[in-house]
Amino acid sequence: MSDRKPFVGGNWKMNTNRSTGSDLARGVTDGLLHEGGVEVAVFPPFPYLLTVRSILRDRGSSVRLGAQDMYHQGDGAYTGEVSGAMLRDCGVQAVLCGHSERRHVMGEKDELINKKLRAALEAGLDAVLCVGETLEEREAGHQDIITSRQVRTGLAEIPGSLAERLIIAYEPVWAIGTGKTATPEDAQAAHAQIRGLLERMYGKDVANRVRIVYGGSLKPDTAGAIFAEPDVDGGLVGGASLNAADFVAICKLAAASARGSV
Ligand code: PGA
Repeated sequence: MSDRKPFVGGNWKMNTNRSTGSDLARGVTDGLLHEGGVEVAVFPPFPYLLTVRSILRDRGSSVRLGAQDMYHQGDGAYTGEVSGAMLRDCGVQAVLCGHSERRHVMGEKDELINKKLRAALEAGLDAVLCVGETLEEREAGHQDIITSRQVRTGLAEIPGSLAERLIIAYEPVWAIGTGKTATPEDAQAAHAQIRGLLERMYGKDVANRVRIVYGGSLKPDTAGAIFAEPDVDGGLVGGASLNAADFVAICKLAAASARGSV
């Protein structure tokens, strides 16, 4: 247990439509109405941000609104991209940077991800830096080297004073959308290693304040044991976040774990 308030994000990816996304947002807000022990954010696709924002606002929900990506430039000739200021204008409070699918499907590199992260924080958004090794990298024994590089480069030039607005999501690529969850021990080992690196970069105080969340096939029946690990401060949920009851259950497990009641 730590002083860090757990965080759970629901990454809807390229799923839902205006109707199912609205139902999902309503289900999540209603399910979490009386749950103050966890910070929760949903990350709908861009076209539905305003719709979801209205639902969260109308219900007075504490669930935060997130976006799945952004571009680091301000405005200008960048067809297809959106800026941090545009996201803020739409009520967005947090953004994912360097999600595994951005890295491996769209080919984003650490340097670009760092630019996005810096621009997100400068725009006043909270930022979730996603890192994690592929199966080949893990099997070659390179998990530590890969995630260290992703964290170091991703956080280049970001001051420790922004620790509260930064979340690191450790998401082993082999666990995302595969139904294979890391064991609690493997997750703890990776999180402890990342926190150790943060300590070397920023000192103990900052390292203790940054939340490090786990992602990769989290489900209500696997999340509790992972959240119980001391360096796991919640989760980033893909598939299971598309089902309001499952997502709410996972959020409640994170809150219970922080209270020490599981
Ligand atoms: P998953 O996705 O829960 O479907 O594995 C997690 C993520 O990509 O953030």
